[in-house]
Amino acid sequence: MPAWFSYTFFAVAVVLGSTALFFFTLTRGALLMRGAMGRLSHDAAHVYPIYSNMRLIRLVDWQPIISAILLFQYSHLVTIIAHGLRKDELRGKDVLITSCAFGNVIPRVVEASVKSGARKVLIADIIQNELDHAQTKLGDHAGHIVYLKDNAVAMRQPDASVQANVMFFLLHELPHHLKVDALSEAMRVLAPGGKLYLGEFHRPSPWLLRALSWTYFKVFEPYGLALWDSHDPVQQLQAMPGVTCERHTAFFGNFQVIVATKAKQQRHG
Ligand SMILES: C[S@@+](CC[C@H](N)C(=O)[O-])C[C@H]1O[C@@H](n2cnc3c(N)ncnc32)[C@H](O)[C@@H]1O
Repeated sequence: MPAWFSYTFFAVAVVLGSTALFFFTLTRGALLMRGAMGRLSHDAAHVYPIYSNMRLIRLVDWQPIISAILLFQYSHLVTIIAHGLRKDELRGKDVLITSCAFGNVIPRVVEASVKSGARKVLIADIIQNELDHAQTKLGDHAGHIVYLKDNAVAMRQPDASVQANVMFFLLHELPHHLKVDALSEAMRVLAPGGKLYLGEFHRPSPWLLRALSWTYFKVFEPYGLALWDSHDPVQQLQAMPGVTCERHTAFFGNFQVIVATKAKQQRHG
């Protein structure tokens, strides 16, 4: 075997191993440490350090890294949401983004909402640093945006107050009992006829991808696997009165965008 091949193989293994260790330490590893120290009781205890420490947020929030984490499907998933918003009748209405996310999803959602005539886009997150960071990406539409420090599982937003709500890869990070609360809050704040756009992981069809994905969740994101079955968001949303769902899957079923519509008028009797 030529020497250059061994060196390249070794270098790639070191880079991949260090990247995995970096992300493990700042995600699951940090939650394990918090659990061991008995510090899991406050509202934001499930939030990884990469979403709370400003230096880490700035370090990780780089579009190529974020796209790679979502297997280069990021842009496609955001496009499904942005197209949906562009078709919605948002004139004079408010749009909510429930929790910040890395990459350009927030600017693209804001842009699509404003072009559809939205009056305001409310951006809610439990971590102030995430809101401050989001603000740095949104100079062009500053006049349309309101930043809210709020908890997705117990929102301070009134009932029926927004016409669209975007939740991008939040659910898989929430402990299971909070997933249900976040979905019911997301539907509560929607006006009749309004839509929830939910980007998430989904159970892939090919067994090899499923095995790799399963391993990823077991190591890095222990709350994510339940979305495949016991906490399938479509089942949970459709169990709510008057909610209908469309599911779009991508990359052999590994990702999904769910569009959940709240009925215009609840049927009685
Ligand atoms: C949407 S998720 C992760 C998104 C995705 N992994 C990405 O590409 O960025 C991360 C965000 O959710 C926020 N978050 C977590 N729990 C929350 C909660 N209960 N209420 C509101 N925001 C929350 C975190 O502060 C962070 O900004």
